[in-house]
Amino acid sequence: MDMHRFPDTRVIHPSILYFGTPVVLITTRNRDGSTNITPMSSAWALADRIVIGLSGGGQGLANLRRERECVLNLAGEDMHRGVERIAPTTGKATVPPWKQAIGYRHEADKFALGGWHELPSLTVRPPRIMECPLQLEAQVLLEVERPLEAWRDSAGGYAIIELEVLHVHAHENVTVPGTQHVDPQRYRPLFYLFRHYVGPGKPLGRTFKAEV
Ligand SMILES: Cc1cc2nc3c(=O)[nH]c(=O)nc-3n(C[C@H](O)[C@H](O)[C@H](O)COP(=O)(O)O)c2cc1C
Repeated sequence: MDMHRFPDTRVIHPSILYFGTPVVLITTRNRDGSTNITPMSSAWALADRIVIGLSGGGQGLANLRRERECVLNLAGEDMHRGVERIAPTTGKATVPPWKQAIGYRHEADKFALGGWHELPSLTVRPPRIMECPLQLEAQVLLEVERPLEAWRDSAGGYAIIELEVLHVHAHENVTVPGTQHVDPQRYRPLFYLFRHYVGPGKPLGRTFKAEV
């Protein structure tokens, strides 16, 4: 084997490991009946389950623990400016000290700040975000608390939450007409890649399982 065809590697110590996952805007219901939006990206799906990771001390996590339901709104690539407007905020009235130290502030109306609109959901109380091409109503099945002392970004560790998706709402223009499929050519998700926003790039091919 010709080793010279491969690039050199070295061991690095990156501060984060966000290797590129879709941006999800989680809508949850606050105690007073208003809605919070939590931008996040640590999510993966298997069948009708989605597992998410949320750091401790956030409003979305507190709401999920209490209400046991949410909507996972998948941001489109054209939504990155609105996402970044709500990024340095929390729905928590009292901003945790570690968040204050890096510039977070409280924001009660993230819909207005993001420039988005509410749509009622079918079976959960939090509304959907109209502008998101996919909106997944979900309920909490399981929650696991994890300590993480070594992580500067979280005094309170983090939670692993397993959600069951109850309804999938899709903009008509990202579906394949007359089918139940999302059209990978037209669905343009926003990704979070080492603290930068990127789009999906050009299609490269399909798996043997693809139905369209
Ligand atoms: C693009 C993006 C991705 C993020 N991913 C996560 C994540 O996966 N998990 C998490 O706990 N926080 C994540 N955050 C940080 C939260 O959005 C932040 O803690 C926010 O204050 C939570 O809002 P809340 O307290 O109103 O729920 C992300 C932020 C942005 C902008």
